[in-house]
Amino acid sequence: MADPLRTAIVGAGIGAQHLEAYRALPDRFEVTAICDLDLFRTRAIAGELTVTDDFESLLADPDLDIVDICLPPHLHTEAILASLAAGKHTICEKPLATSLAEIDRIEVAEAASTARVFPVFQYRFGPAARALSALRDGGFLGTPLAAALETHWNRGGDYYAVPWRGTWAGEMGGAILGHAIHAHDWLSFAMGPVASVFARLATRANPIEVEDCAALALTLTDGTPVTSSVTLGAASDTTRIRLVYQNLTAESGTNPYKPAEGEWAYLARDPTRQPEVDAIVASSQEGPNGYAGLFAAISDALSGAPSGPVTLADARASIELVTAIYASARDDRPVSLPVASGEPFRQSWLPAL
Ligand SMILES: NC(=O)c1ccc[n+]([C@@H]2O[C@H](COP(=O)([O-])OP(=O)(O)OC[C@H]3O[C@@H](n4cnc5c(N)ncnc54)[C@H](O)[C@@H]3O)[C@@H](O)[C@H]2O)c1
Repeated sequence: MADPLRTAIVGAGIGAQHLEAYRALPDRFEVTAICDLDLFRTRAIAGELTVTDDFESLLADPDLDIVDICLPPHLHTEAILASLAAGKHTICEKPLATSLAEIDRIEVAEAASTARVFPVFQYRFGPAARALSALRDGGFLGTPLAAALETHWNRGGDYYAVPWRGTWAGEMGGAILGHAIHAHDWLSFAMGPVASVFARLATRANPIEVEDCAALALTLTDGTPVTSSVTLGAASDTTRIRLVYQNLTAESGTNPYKPAEGEWAYLARDPTRQPEVDAIVASSQEGPNGYAGLFAAISDALSGAPSGPVTLADARASIELVTAIYASARDDRPVSLPVASGEPFRQSWLPAL
């Protein structure tokens, strides 16, 4: 077996959960360092690992294979470009970038590099994701007919006490960019790409600059109509995904941050097929989930496995949708995807403040 991939984590917030997942995969990854400007915070999670606040010297380490970026959103693109220029495979938290113009730059840099970029969409890894893939492969789903998504989370003053959050300059977007991005990525995974969106956005739950509530009407490329409801002012944290296919309806529980690991109901429209559906679901339970599932898939991809994990194309799709949502809400119009090349929102969706 190949040596574990030597990995550095940059950012010690959600980076702590990344560290836990790498430690669950000791044959595949060896975390060698954690980098954060806040060395006190870093030492609290690092144990015996090297701790640094110097990103450039980290990149200069010739023995490092992977840089895992867990910085605030406005720092992602420049950090990814620096990491690629240093020849390091680069994993980056969502949102990978904060405009389509930035995605363009990352694609060019990846093409010119020996290294690869992997966006983080860890919600795709869990029993429900495996079950849906197996049901699709077995022909049990049929054509998508409709879907409903809910991202109803509870964020308040403590959450927004972190200076970058809730601001256009730091978070670069609100619930659409930072929170519902997971449910929307799940939709693409489960039913296919989005073709158009009409969006209503509002800031109603917290005194912040960016949106924290949304109602979206989406149409997928095959014509499937989908609704997505978003708020960060709910009394509890719930994510709900309801997928209606011609032959089967799949409905998640309410697990907010690990929807693919919660309880799901899979109901065949033809009751005689329910035992086969149940058998496929039962056989999909085992496997690495969440961040560990994503990181295991990344190490497979770097070893040459043919079917990649979450790709740069998935990150582009997510940012394409965010761009279309902001364009739709600001201009009060439906917006088609891919967003037109002359569309100014491709450069930036930030409002003039
Ligand atoms: N996938 C998910 O489910 C998930 C969950 C939470 C957060 N995130 C994403 O992860 C990213 C980080 O979020 P967070 O909640 O951990 O934020 P955070 O503010 O808690 O942590 C970010 C860390 O980055 C450090 N930092 C800032 N600038 C730096 C620099 N120039 N060099 C080195 N360190 C620097 C800060 O000191 C801080 O410790 C965001 O993009 C967020 O959207 C994703």
